[in-house]
This record gives sequence, C-alpha cells and structure tokens, in this order.
Amino acid sequence: MIPKLVRLSRSAPKDRPLAWDTYWAGIRATGAAGEVLWDSGTDQEFLSYKEVLLRHLDPELPVVDIGCGHGSFSRALAGLFPEVIGVDVSAHAVNRAEDESAEFRNVRFQVRDMTAPGAEKDLPREANVFIRGVLHVLGAADQAALAENLRLLVGQRGSVFLAETNFQGNPVEYVSHLGATSRSIPAPLERAIRGLPMPGRFGPEERSRALPPTAWQLVEDGPVAIETNPATGISGQGRVPGYYAVLRPRT
Ligand SMILES: C[S@@+](CC[C@H](N)C(=O)[O-])C[C@H]1O[C@@H](n2cnc3c(N)ncnc32)[C@H](O)[C@@H]1O
Repeated sequence: MIPKLVRLSRSAPKDRPLAWDTYWAGIRATGAAGEVLWDSGTDQEFLSYKEVLLRHLDPELPVVDIGCGHGSFSRALAGLFPEVIGVDVSAHAVNRAEDESAEFRNVRFQVRDMTAPGAEKDLPREANVFIRGVLHVLGAADQAALAENLRLLVGQRGSVFLAETNFQGNPVEYVSHLGATSRSIPAPLERAIRGLPMPGRFGPEERSRALPPTAWQLVEDGPVAIETNPATGISGQGRVPGYYAVLRPRT
C-alpha cells in the first residue's frame, strides 16, 4: 500500500493554506453521506464533550472555534455560549460554514490564519477557545505560533478546549484503520490523502511541547474518540483514538 499512498499524496500542494483552501473548494457535500473525512454527520462526539465544556468554560464568554471547517462544531457550540465565531484559514470553508449556518443568529465566521502574528486582533478579548482536529495538522513552529495567539485571545477569564486525533501507529496503519486496503480506499479518505498535508498526532507529549506547563495550567485531560465519516464501512472504525484537554494560561 505504501507506493499507492506516496503516489496519491504527491499531488497535495506543499503550501498548507493553499492545500486547505483547494480541498474545501472541491467539497460538494458534508454530513454522513458527504466527502469530508472528519465529519461523522452526528453530534455524538460533541455530546461527549458537553459536560467538560460546561464544567470548565465560562458560559458568559463568547467562544472562538479555531479551524472551524464547515462549522458543524460552531453550530453545536451555539447552544452553549452567547456568541460563536468560527475562524478558518480557508475562504471556501468559511463560505460553506456561512451557508450551512444561515439560521443561527449567534454564529459568525471569519477567514484567518490563526498561526499568523496578530491573528487574534478584532476577535473578542477574553473568549473561550474550542479547537478540534487542527493542532495535529500543524508543524511544531505553527503550533507554537497558534499557542501565542490563544494566550492573547483567552485573556484572564477564557479557557481553551482542544480535541485532537492521537493515533499510535504509522501512516499505513492509520489509513488501514480508516478502511484503506491495497485494493480500495474510501472516497473521503482518498480525497484527504490526495489534497492535504499528512497529519501527525497530538497527545499529552505534543500538548506539553506546544502549550508548556510553565505557561499553561492543565485543568483536565483524557482520551476521547474522534468520530470520522462512516465511509470505512467497518463498524467502529470511523472512530479514531484521540486526546482532549482544557487549559488556561498562567498569569
Ligand atoms: C481537520 S479540519 C477540522 C475542521 C473542524 N474543526 C471540524 O472538526 O470539523 C482542520 C481545519 O483547520 C483549518 N486550518 C488549518 N490550518 C489553519 C490555520 N493556520 N488557521 C486557521 N485554520 C486552519 C483547515 O482549513 C480545516 O478546516
């Protein structure tokens, strides 16, 4: 399977923001029958986070959904917080998120590279942050740049909730888990391999490198199941082992 993976991934643009925007430009359908690999089309995963969010995030503050994609988690957050701002580096993702969220009065979206210096400007000061499936697709330098923007964004009262895939295996084991065989690859997985940078993993070790304990207080963390598109067709394999954490900057 390795030569096939190498051949498919060769076409992905090396420029990451361009890769993401090109990926989102090609998406015609979301949800369980759609084309987005990390979209299960259900709120099951969000419901597994709900108690943690209610326990630790100030419900009076707005929440910024960083790397919001087509906004499915932004819409779920709209029921818990007064205002949700979804931000994404891809203009096509933001357009789609806006189209899918027209009925939500307290949700808005902005195009923004959250690893860029000053990216937190014009976003609410003192906000909660929700971030799912973004840190594991960034390199170490971008993770550190994002962490600095998170610190400025949350201020004194906000908290960061993150949930990321933390699959302990090599890329072949990862794509096999998601239903790839030497004969066929589920369409949402093939689309991601063709168009996007190869993801890494993000667990406790990566968290303490990107958000070091000297600068960030770890409030709670643990394992979580990241739900993906059910296209694997293999019961239970649409779930990827993941990691969640709640953090606050040290003053
Ligand atoms: C795996 S997707 C997760 C999308 C969404 N959080 C979800 O769980 O449905 C990663 C998202 O992060 C966005 N992204 C990648 N790099 C980014 C950056 N530097 N700033 C903002 N968004 C970014 C991508 O465009 C993509 O929508």
